[in-house]
Amino acid sequence: MKRLLSGIKPSGALTLGNYIGAIMRFVELQKQLTDTEFYLFVADLHAITTEQNPQELRKRTKEIAAMYLAAGLDKDKTILFIQSEIKEHAELGYLLQCHTYMGELERMTQYKDKATKQQSGLTSALFTYPALMAADIILYDADYVPVGDDQKQHIELTRDIATRFNNRFGDFFKVPEPIIPKVGARIMDLQNPEKKMSKSEASDKGYIALLDDEQTIIKKIRSAVTDSIGVIQYDPFNQPGVANLLNIYAALTDKAIEAIVEMYKGLGYKEFKEDLAHIVSTRIKSLQDNYYQIINSPELDAILDAGRAKAQSYAYRKVEKCKQKLGLGRKK
Ligand code: AMP
Ligand code: TRP
Repeated sequence: MKRLLSGIKPSGALTLGNYIGAIMRFVELQKQLTDTEFYLFVADLHAITTEQNPQELRKRTKEIAAMYLAAGLDKDKTILFIQSEIKEHAELGYLLQCHTYMGELERMTQYKDKATKQQSGLTSALFTYPALMAADIILYDADYVPVGDDQKQHIELTRDIATRFNNRFGDFFKVPEPIIPKVGARIMDLQNPEKKMSKSEASDKGYIALLDDEQTIIKKIRSAVTDSIGVIQYDPFNQPGVANLLNIYAALTDKAIEAIVEMYKGLGYKEFKEDLAHIVSTRIKSLQDNYYQIINSPELDAILDAGRAKAQSYAYRKVEKCKQKLGLGRKK
């Protein structure tokens, strides 16, 4: 049996980018990979690398857990858990920091971007974040890690850390493979299509939150930035706004971009945006219907308890063995 693992940080409202680049992909993969266990978690330890309000953080942690299920993940095939409830993530995170070089962390583009945006108050945990992420993955010997494009570099580093450890101490960690979607790996901001759609943006016009209401979604798509060329074609360089909308359209309808371009030949942006607004709002509405049922049900806690128990037993044994390899503590 293979194992797939992925996580989402509860650092802001979940967006359409998270849905298309991650959650929706997990559901599709679960249908395809029948011999694979799914370990999915809420990365709350990652969220606190930047300042969080405790009440908000707790609320969003549960929202993400509910959203995984609302999107259609099969609870019987998914080990769903909250990262901070398994102490071994932090513990292995530290052990791996001892095998990660400053130069490697300094090269991480996500860190560099954040460091340029935010001049002061950068935490040391934001810098060492990729070592914790590597721990999340190799703690469970995951085979596959589906993520959006922005996380690819972190998975490469994870592979390097795991390989380094194995070379020093003997084969111990599984070296994971990333799975990056072909369409929708990078959904861009609706107001600034040069930037990825992100929940941490100050302006909420640029992203669609999965809990936005229908009218808000329609308005945001209608006012998405396009260009003055006026032709619907896939040209990310000259028409990044339209290319982004085409990507969203393709991801949610399973149609090829060329087929969509063909459908809208001779039509204007207005018709295209109206159709897309309908597609996005219908999909999100059905997601929300499921979500509101789950978030208010006692079943969610039961699923998270079961997930914790299962993940915990694997994590405990793995870290104990890892410490033995490193010569920590007394010999067992
Ligand atoms: P995060 O919200 O940063 O924890 O990301 C959770 C998952 O969503 C990761 O797999 C990201 O790669 C993916 N993701 C986040 N934003 C986007 C986006 N704009 N487009 C595609 N995937 C995204
Ligand atoms: N760092 C990821 C992000 O910001 C979230 C994450 C944490 C993750 N641990 C992970 C994703 C392990 C995949 C596997 O998107």
